[in-house]
Amino acid sequence: MARDTWFETVAIAQRRAQRRLPKSVYAALIAASERGVTAADNVEAFSELGFAPHVVGAVEKRDLSTTVMGQDISLPVIISPTGVQAVDPDGEVAVARAAAARGTAMGLSSFASKPIEEVIAANPKLFFQVYWLGGRDAIAERVERARAAGAVGLIVTTDWTFSHGRDWGSPKIPEQMNLGTILRLSPQAITRPGWLWKYAKTLRPPNLRVPNQARKGEPGPPFFSAYGEWMTTPPPTWEDIAWLRELWGGPFMLKGVMRVDDAKRAVDAGVSAISVSNHGGNNLDGTPATIRALPAVADAVGDQVEVLLDGGIRRGSDVVKAMALGARAVMIGRAYLWGLAAAGQAGVENVLDIMRSGIDSALMGLGHAAVRDLGRDDLVVPPEFVRALGVPAADHR
Ligand SMILES: Cc1cc2nc3c(=O)[nH]c(=O)nc-3n(C[C@H](O)[C@H](O)[C@H](O)COP(=O)(O)O)c2cc1C
Repeated sequence: MARDTWFETVAIAQRRAQRRLPKSVYAALIAASERGVTAADNVEAFSELGFAPHVVGAVEKRDLSTTVMGQDISLPVIISPTGVQAVDPDGEVAVARAAAARGTAMGLSSFASKPIEEVIAANPKLFFQVYWLGGRDAIAERVERARAAGAVGLIVTTDWTFSHGRDWGSPKIPEQMNLGTILRLSPQAITRPGWLWKYAKTLRPPNLRVPNQARKGEPGPPFFSAYGEWMTTPPPTWEDIAWLRELWGGPFMLKGVMRVDDAKRAVDAGVSAISVSNHGGNNLDGTPATIRALPAVADAVGDQVEVLLDGGIRRGSDVVKAMALGARAVMIGRAYLWGLAAAGQAGVENVLDIMRSGIDSALMGLGHAAVRDLGRDDLVVPPEFVRALGVPAADHR
């Protein structure tokens, strides 16, 4: 990557994203529910955890590879599904190419801007993410399309409460990108010529349709009509989750689990993986950081299903901390979106490289040969750090 677009940390990518994107597009990336307490805790909690390094005996080469839902990945970091972004005209296809180039897998949001078939062509290690939207028939149709396209796993996200209050103001997502909208947004966009130019070159405005929500033979609906349908769909029961798991038949992740009792129910429903997640602080504000909830969940079900974590990962050492507390791998959200905004596909590769080198140096400092050797002994965990949610009060730590 050219020296002037390369960045050394995710924080620098974030600053570049802020400079390059129109205000409302950047706001949509950093937005979090209500006061943003959960989003902030997701990030800050990592700095409460310390390391217990060794001084002699590091191995020369370290193995960062692992598997998630049956896919070999070269580092324990995968792309978390994110929807409704107008960050880059190549969007999820650029992200998929970057993940493939760096040997890792990708979750594709059902609210993505690109059709699943195009994204899988760029990275066959693709897990398709669905929301509970439209009821069983519509969900089955979407899932069968994903199967036919070649998706190797399914991610089901249920942690969404339609809470749109954000103290710093909700970024308004327009109904459609017609001339009126473009003119209304132009004062913001005009100050971001790089972003405007990228879209101008494609002769297409940002896509506000969701092609992966299309019913058979129909075009992808506009984002707001899909969102409206979602709001009016009765939320799923555990029987619905078990039904979908059965229908899919392959690797299946429930994303958004924060409590031990829910993790156990997910195991009973037959899932193969869970992600300890609070939707990046976008759901119920006041939920603790995911890294605080992880240890109890990993203790309870880590020997039965793959336990992942997402939320607040900004550097390789965060990944190492999550793995030391029981995660098999992590998923990243905003970090790669900022990379995408900063430098397109190369920016996402840059973010994955930052993760890789950070994980590698932490492993070296801890004297481990492989990520699978990480354990609690590697960390300094302050008292009161862990939040064991969904266990009888006497078991609270
Ligand atoms: C802009 C944005 C859009 C998102 N869209 C989705 C989505 O469509 N489906 C989903 O399961 N999670 C979605 N998420 C949540 C992410 O998958 C992930 O849980 C979260 O971003 C992790 O936190 P982090 O951003 O601190 O890494 C979204 C997050 C962001 C920031």
